[in-house]
Amino acid sequence: MASREHWGSRFGFIMAAAGSAVGLGNIWKFPYQTGANGGAAFLIIYLCFVALFGLSLVMAELLIGRTSQKNPIGAFRSLGGPAWAPVGAMGIVAGFTILSFYIVVAGWTLAYLLAMLQGDLALTDPQQLGAKFGEFISSPYQPIGYAALFMILTATVVIGGIGQGIERASRVLMPALFVLLLVLVGRSVTLDGAEEGLRFFLAPDWSKVNGDTFTSAIGQAFFSLSLGMGALLTYGSYLPSDSKIPGSAVIIVLVDSGVAILAGLMILPAVFAFGFDPQEGPGLTFVTLPAVFAAMPGGQIFGVLFFALLAVAALTSSISLLETVVCYFVDERGFSRHQVTIAASLVSFGLGIPASLSLGIWSDFTVPGTDKNIFDFMDFTASSVLLPLGGLLTALFVGWKWGHGALDALSNEGQLHMPPGRLWLFLLRFIVPLGIGWVLLQAFL
Ligand code: TRP
Repeated sequence: MASREHWGSRFGFIMAAAGSAVGLGNIWKFPYQTGANGGAAFLIIYLCFVALFGLSLVMAELLIGRTSQKNPIGAFRSLGGPAWAPVGAMGIVAGFTILSFYIVVAGWTLAYLLAMLQGDLALTDPQQLGAKFGEFISSPYQPIGYAALFMILTATVVIGGIGQGIERASRVLMPALFVLLLVLVGRSVTLDGAEEGLRFFLAPDWSKVNGDTFTSAIGQAFFSLSLGMGALLTYGSYLPSDSKIPGSAVIIVLVDSGVAILAGLMILPAVFAFGFDPQEGPGLTFVTLPAVFAAMPGGQIFGVLFFALLAVAALTSSISLLETVVCYFVDERGFSRHQVTIAASLVSFGLGIPASLSLGIWSDFTVPGTDKNIFDFMDFTASSVLLPLGGLLTALFVGWKWGHGALDALSNEGQLHMPPGRLWLFLLRFIVPLGIGWVLLQAFL
């Protein structure tokens, strides 16, 4: 068998892993969640979860991958024995599920990019824009066509493999994303009337905080950091054994939170400056923002840049979702990368069709035993159940089963000087499992 492919450079790896983390979660979900959950108060709770749970789990996943040099199922099996393999399997299932609805929303970003280019969204009335958005996402064919297009883009990169596909794409796309983001933040914070939005985003109002705020914040932290399903584990499995995991993990987490904060700085001041409602929810990006662009001088250009940014961010994330699934079938089942990428893309696209239709012609159908349509059910099952559960089991695995062996591996067998290693193990043993367990119970009681 050919030896496992590795990342060509540390920079390439970090761009790919940060590309996985930075996605629709940061730019679409984070600002509307912050808007709906009291602004700065949500931001602070979110950042605490990221620092306390996120960072230690990013290190844990990368380490499991690098040490085993295997896909999620193979990795848990080889380090922990067959009883742990289901943790990896749960991740593969979550990956398929997330990819399926992710390409639907990512498809919308492509459609909006084209609509912006054609000047079709030059309306300042959010009601009209809301109607347009509703009509678009509920139509039976168009969104599915864009989801297909997005799936093809994703598959094209993944077929290229690690170095020539994912790393090469990430090295170009991620720096482009940072430039676009900075241009847009600069525009937003210098608008007349931006201060009110800045205050909302940066000065906490604790009266809006309740139990749900914590559940949303932890779900957001997991989703945004690509945790709990083995995506970072898979990227870690392409690292050479002398790589410095703690440093890379810190950079990945800082980039991810940094982009979320910048996305808040890009969107919320603009929303306030033009007197729109930050509590719009999921429509904030597709309804409120086009109105903001229409009201702004040169808004069409900024609108095009914005939806290009969103599409790029989504692409580097969907790549990691597909790669995780592909890696398993290539490693364990001996299929060629080419075959598996095409097959897995077809399956995900197939599952994406009902997700998209459930926002339109199938919207009356709710999944039996729940009050959710298919799209919300997939999002909820994956993001609020499978990811936290995956994170919980990963923490228990590294903290208790692997234990001090993991500490040795994290320090590259003592070669890296790493004072907080014990703190890391303590977090994984006690704080992370208790915290996630508490939040999971909250969600179900
Ligand atoms: N983190 C990405 C985002 O913020 C989405 C994503 C990519 C993801 N890979 C993942 C989420 C793995 C959970 C698990 O949009």
